[in-house]
Amino acid sequence: MNSISCLILSLFVGIQCCGDFYWREFEGVIPTDAISFGYSDFVQKQLYIGQAYIHNYGLMIGKIYNGAKQITVPCYGTKTTNTAIKILCAQDSRKYYWLSTTNETYSTDTANKCPVLGGYDETIPDHTNLTHGVLHIGRINYLDDYVTGNIAAYHEYPLFYYVLNNVEKNSAVYEVLMYSDNPIQTP
Ligand SMILES: *[C@@H]1O[C@H](CO)[C@@H](O)[C@H](O)[C@H]1NC(C)=O
Ligand SMILES: *[C@@H]1O[C@H](CO)[C@@H](O)[C@H](O)[C@H]1NC(C)=O
Repeated sequence: MNSISCLILSLFVGIQCCGDFYWREFEGVIPTDAISFGYSDFVQKQLYIGQAYIHNYGLMIGKIYNGAKQITVPCYGTKTTNTAIKILCAQDSRKYYWLSTTNETYSTDTANKCPVLGGYDETIPDHTNLTHGVLHIGRINYLDDYVTGNIAAYHEYPLFYYVLNNVEKNSAVYEVLMYSDNPIQTP
């Protein structure tokens, strides 16, 4: 989300924006300012955070790497697209770090801090069970690989949703991508 679209989202849905990150168009080549979330022994490549717009659902998060032609995101199941993929970038990636958290400690762990705005779930607005709202960016280490995906941050006790072997899974224990002007942790 660049600052303009973050401003628009903040005006219309009242979300908080922080961080100097931006989303670049991704057409298969990783820009030098992209934020990596780990190295995959499986594809033997550095992994990056991708964002895709899924019609009727919203902006969702998934993994991309150099040469990727498409992205698969967790989205009430999985969705794969090859159009308008974005990649998360920032001038200074040292201002971004991963914070360990769980569904039950999420609000206290991130209180007065700055989780990176990853996307927006706009699936059939349903205020009775709060199935829409802001998504943050999560990560877990799985065997010798890493996966990224959506943290359902609009939920009081958010789970992390990701795709593994083309199946959507969730985890209650995960890391969240955070921004800090003066990071003390390293990514
Ligand atoms: C809201 O919750 C109900 C019952 O758990 C579920 O059937 C429905 O799909 C949910 N709404 C959305 C938009 O996911
Ligand atoms: C947190 O996630 C675990 C595992 O999915 C679940 O059993 C537990 O009920 C969740 N806690 C809350 C408060 O939602």
